[in-house]
Amino acid sequence: MSAVREMSVERVEVLEPHDMADLCDATNAAIVDGGGFGWLEAQSRSSLERHFGGILLIPDREFFIARLDGEVVGSAQLIRPPRHNEAQAFTAQLAHAFIAPYARGFGLARMLVRRVEQRAAALGLRVINLDVRATQESAIALFEGLGYTRWGTHPAYARAHGQTISGYYYYRILEVPGGRSTAAALGHIA
Ligand SMILES: CC(C)(COP(=O)(O)OP(=O)(O)OC[C@H]1O[C@@H](n2cnc3c(N)ncnc32)[C@H](O)[C@@H]1OP(=O)(O)O)[C@@H](O)C(=O)NCCC(=O)NCCS
Repeated sequence: MSAVREMSVERVEVLEPHDMADLCDATNAAIVDGGGFGWLEAQSRSSLERHFGGILLIPDREFFIARLDGEVVGSAQLIRPPRHNEAQAFTAQLAHAFIAPYARGFGLARMLVRRVEQRAAALGLRVINLDVRATQESAIALFEGLGYTRWGTHPAYARAHGQTISGYYYYRILEVPGGRSTAAALGHIA
């Protein structure tokens, strides 16, 4: 009988050194696998530490980590529009979601995305936007399975290994707990 794996997702404002080390390992494993959250080549530990350390300091950005058996194996970011963008204050971007190849297939990404959505709704946000490369088949299956609507395709979304890759744009409507329904708050959404 296989052992039950312990899975969790949490929002963090600081990363303990061992969590940062696990996150850097997970990130490089995903990059080498063709992960698709920006980098194309594995990065040095110091540049990844600077990167994540900087992310944690950015206002209007929240950082979530996924753990498998206690080890950090992935992350995601909830990015709110800057304060001056009042017209889009009800929206946020879900970005850079990933799970290391060695921790995939356990349902962690689903848990991670739902946790980010839950937090967004708790903040009063009503729309989550995200985009993925058209080649990210697992992510496309993940987000479509979680109810995201694809509304557009960008033909020149990214370049990787000498190829131009199109990108898909998605949104999902959220309901704010204890608030007005989103239909009432936003009116008709096609
Ligand atoms: C996409 C990704 C986050 C999925 O992580 P994961 O933890 O393995 O996903 P889960 O186990 O939570 O799977 C949830 C659902 O996603 C879909 N899915 C995930 N991996 C899939 C795969 N390889 N093929 C088809 N569907 C897949 C399935 O619908 C799955 O539900 P099911 O297991 O009931 O069929 C992971 O493959 C990854 O990090 N990829 C590279 C980075 C990336 O594409 N990030 C997203 C945009 S930045």
